[in-house]
Amino acid sequence: MRVLVIGSGAREHALVLALSRDPGVTAVLAAPGNAGIAQIAEQFPVDAASAEQVVALAKEQNVDLVVIGPEVPLVLGVADAVRAAGIACFGPSAAAARIEGSKAFAKDVMNTAGVRTAHSEVVDSPGVLDEALDRFGPTWVVKDDGLAAGKGVVVTADRAVARDHAAEILENGHPVLLESFLDGPEVSLFCLVDGETVVPLLPAQDHKRVGDGDTGPNTGGMGAYTPLPWLPAETVDVIVEEVVRPVAAELVNRGCGFSGLLYAGLAIGKDGPAVVEFNCRFGDPETQAVLALLESPLGEALAATANGTLAELPPLRWRDGAAVTVVLAAEYYPASPRTGDVITGAGADAEGVLHAGTKRNESGAIVSAGGRVLSVVGVGADLSAARDQAYATLAGIKLPGGHFRTDIGLAAVEGRITV
Ligand code: GLY
Repeated sequence: MRVLVIGSGAREHALVLALSRDPGVTAVLAAPGNAGIAQIAEQFPVDAASAEQVVALAKEQNVDLVVIGPEVPLVLGVADAVRAAGIACFGPSAAAARIEGSKAFAKDVMNTAGVRTAHSEVVDSPGVLDEALDRFGPTWVVKDDGLAAGKGVVVTADRAVARDHAAEILENGHPVLLESFLDGPEVSLFCLVDGETVVPLLPAQDHKRVGDGDTGPNTGGMGAYTPLPWLPAETVDVIVEEVVRPVAAELVNRGCGFSGLLYAGLAIGKDGPAVVEFNCRFGDPETQAVLALLESPLGEALAATANGTLAELPPLRWRDGAAVTVVLAAEYYPASPRTGDVITGAGADAEGVLHAGTKRNESGAIVSAGGRVLSVVGVGADLSAARDQAYATLAGIKLPGGHFRTDIGLAAVEGRITV
């Protein structure tokens, strides 16, 4: 099977790596990729958001399966175009991708499906913003009702900060979603979904704030770990039965059944799991940790999802132990990351170093080309060992101005997370 992976982040690097380990995959191609993916797959300079370019490449390269990593091409209908060209595609239709692309659509689906989620209101005019803000608090959750790569979300106890963020979203011409704050530790549960068939992967936890101790602004994600030692064993089944299956069934009812990876972001509160958000694709950086523990062939699982035979897939097999991914970010990320810095150090070529925002400069050196530059993955017999491995590798990598969190997975290791 020849597989084409669309995207250019560390998530896509992890997908390419796992696919290249699958004996049933004869070739892995990537577009547009990055400097790390280039070391293990042939790359093509294609605009991931252009259905025309992606379909033309898939045909020209005779691929059997297209795997779409990021949300933007999915929301724009690239998966529909690939399927219309007669090529199998891992990724939902534009209609189903609204579960991520429109937070208002996601809320409506959840309300109909009876899934617990935060109370919310959409505000589309500055004139009603203040009275709407008064109905929320003491912690305000302010979201851009569109795609904002995680950075469109502000969670704050400061009403003025909430107001400023909402006003900026409105000035940019987008509606604002105000939500009640959901208490409890967060879980990212990725599920392969083909209509009403649901296969969960290992649960993971992201660290969205830029600084240690969950301080500073939200980012696309600064690190993640899996599995979650503090999560009761039955909780994954509860999430599948009470959250993912009802939402998958409701999407089928609405004529837009989901095919691909449905990502449920949840808070585990006193009354059980409640949905913070749904995404229509693998999460970044959780995927880098989750796939590090996958023993089953990834190509087989993605192809079964894309071809509508997920119910026949043998149970997924996972390696024992834990995996941690730590993101190395560029100076001034997330506000205005500086790019063009040369990445050096013995660790930069170590196993488990996945590239995100990287490219080669004119002299052939690998330089930063985005806010999140590398994802460093450590695997070990337990979470503590996996953390040690990730941070040991990171210590050998040099990026001027680069920064990372030192506490990925630490609260779990120290037993500070309870549900
Ligand atoms: N881990 C956050 C995201 O992928 O959106």
